Amino acid sequence: MSQFFNPPDGAVKLTPKQANIYLWGWQKNARFRDAVCGRRFGKTFLAKAEMRRAARLAAKWNVSVEDEIWYSAPTFKQAKRVFWKRLKQAIPPSWRAGKPNETECTITLKSGHVIRVVGLDNYDDLRGSGLFFLIIDEWADCKWAAWEEVLRPMLSTCKYIVNGEQRVGGHVLRIGTPKGFNHCYDTFMDGQPGHEPDCRSFSYTSLQGGNIPESEIIVAKRKMDPKTFSQEYEASFESYQGVIYYCYNRVLNASTETVQPNDTLHIGMDFNVTKMSAVVYVRRGDTMHAVDEFVDLFDTPAMIEAIKERYPKHSIGVYPDASGDNRKSVGASYTDISLLKNAGFNVFVNTTNPAVKDRINSTNGMLCNTLGSRRLFVNTDKCPRFAKCLERQIYDDHGQPDKKAGFDHMNDSGTYPIAYLFPIKIKQDPIEINPIPTINRWN
Ligand SMILES: Nc1ncnc2c1ncn2[C@@H]1O[C@H](COP(=O)(O)OP(=O)(O)OP(=O)(O)O)[C@@H](O)[C@H]1O
Ligand SMILES: [Mg+2]
Repeated sequence: MSQFFNPPDGAVKLTPKQANIYLWGWQKNARFRDAVCGRRFGKTFLAKAEMRRAARLAAKWNVSVEDEIWYSAPTFKQAKRVFWKRLKQAIPPSWRAGKPNETECTITLKSGHVIRVVGLDNYDDLRGSGLFFLIIDEWADCKWAAWEEVLRPMLSTCKYIVNGEQRVGGHVLRIGTPKGFNHCYDTFMDGQPGHEPDCRSFSYTSLQGGNIPESEIIVAKRKMDPKTFSQEYEASFESYQGVIYYCYNRVLNASTETVQPNDTLHIGMDFNVTKMSAVVYVRRGDTMHAVDEFVDLFDTPAMIEAIKERYPKHSIGVYPDASGDNRKSVGASYTDISLLKNAGFNVFVNTTNPAVKDRINSTNGMLCNTLGSRRLFVNTDKCPRFAKCLERQIYDDHGQPDKKAGFDHMNDSGTYPIAYLFPIKIKQDPIEINPIPTINRWN
């Protein structure tokens, strides 16, 4: 009989690297797997084998038919285009209860379990069932909220018995190519040794996938810029175009400095009710080291109290947002800046904020100048939020620093002291026609 009348049963043969990811499936310490791999590695191909196995195990482990098996991608259109045909190849007709539903992209198995292809564009519509197994393809392009608000809770109720042992919780495999330092980086890090106990992550280059000849890689290298090549073919997390503090490098700008008893603290501060933030620097010669941070405090009095409690004996200089001279956070008579002064801090602020561009330029120049020298360092253990914001804040569609993604406040705080102490513009001493009070730089 020809192959046409006798279709293959959908079994696939995996490459060694695909097999490694596959073998970690359904292990307790790998309930959340992340495979971050280069383009054409064979990620979606692996998904076929994973879906087949989930279909078999759902029947074998007596999983409730209310708990479904899903392949998801950023949009339904994309999920259908990329996977629906492959899914029908992977799940042979002899396993199916009837014809696949072409509109909804579902296959019901003889066991009663449902396999579904979904898009995460309208993720609110997905609520309703439980999940036994989930694949998220192109994870870096999916919305984090889809995972956190909808998919993650759907995985948590599934119950099944493996070799007499009751287990609770469906499993997930997130696959994709990186896109800067976004949520895909976070979940990848969760799966690295020493991090989360139920996560396991893998990273392979396109070449390791074995589906692209080396000659193709050489051509790509010749045509692409180094960062894009590393991201797309080597699955490397790169700070991508549009990142504001592009000179920041977590490794090269790393600091092991901490606050010492005699240090003078230079604290940058941004005023936002319920989202007050501050970054604490110490100075070492000509270099600045971010060594502590305060995140999401309620208001200026709460911030003052927190700083005084943590650093009761240090000499403290605060470099705030200049608009705090007008803004009144409590009562009618005190501005934020007067509160800081009354608290006994030395306050260093010009009458207006420097242009945002100047602040960004002086910070990037301190992070790495054209001679390759770095003078601004961040202790990432002590300032995890500041480091993350430096890596992730981008320009919006109007060319302004993005304020929607929540990475703006820490960067505003952390850059006020730098712009004040190390301005790019060389200031001329004012000609004193009428003597005006000068603000002394304070080290
Ligand atoms: N184990 C395998 N055996 C045979 N062919 C494979 C295997 N793995 C992948 N391929 C083939 O390699 C090509 C790339 O695979 P796939 O589409 O799964 O890669 P991908 O990593 O998802 O790519 P992209 O980055 O474009 O999403 C496809 O033609 C696929 O059929
Ligand atoms: Mg793919």
